[in-house]
Amino acid sequence: MNTRIRMAGMVLLGLLGVAPMMAQAGADTYKAKCQSCHGATGMADTGAGKAMKVKPANDADVKAMTEDQMIAVVTDGKGKMPAYKGKLTDAQIKDSVAYYRTFVK
Ligand code: HEC
Repeated sequence: MNTRIRMAGMVLLGLLGVAPMMAQAGADTYKAKCQSCHGATGMADTGAGKAMKVKPANDADVKAMTEDQMIAVVTDGKGKMPAYKGKLTDAQIKDSVAYYRTFVK
């Protein structure tokens, strides 16, 4: 067996494994930290979401935001949105925002 081919195969398998794992990490963080206010599908259809008037993911203002703007809101907070700086890693913030953005349509 050619070791170089075997190595290439292992690298490829590794790459294929990483992408879904990152998406999963974002989903886990979102469910644990964000869902209570933003809802399971980003529609803010929870008690806390309604009480705080969180905008649904399909709101025009939310749709107009860039990923970087959203990361800034989650990192530093805004209004009743808590700041996650120091509570989540930069990667967790980025992944949870990426997951939230799958609801923005
Ligand atoms: C305690 C309730 C609460 C939690 C928990 C929460 N948010 Fe928010 N979030 C809000 C509120 C309220 C706003 C609106 C802030 C404003 O514009 O005044 C907001 C705004 C945002 C925005 C900007 C777009 C918008 O809807 O206005 C993003 C993106 C966002 N949150 C993502 C997250 C992510 C990701 C998490 C988890 C890491 C999270 N939020 C956790 C309450 C919450």
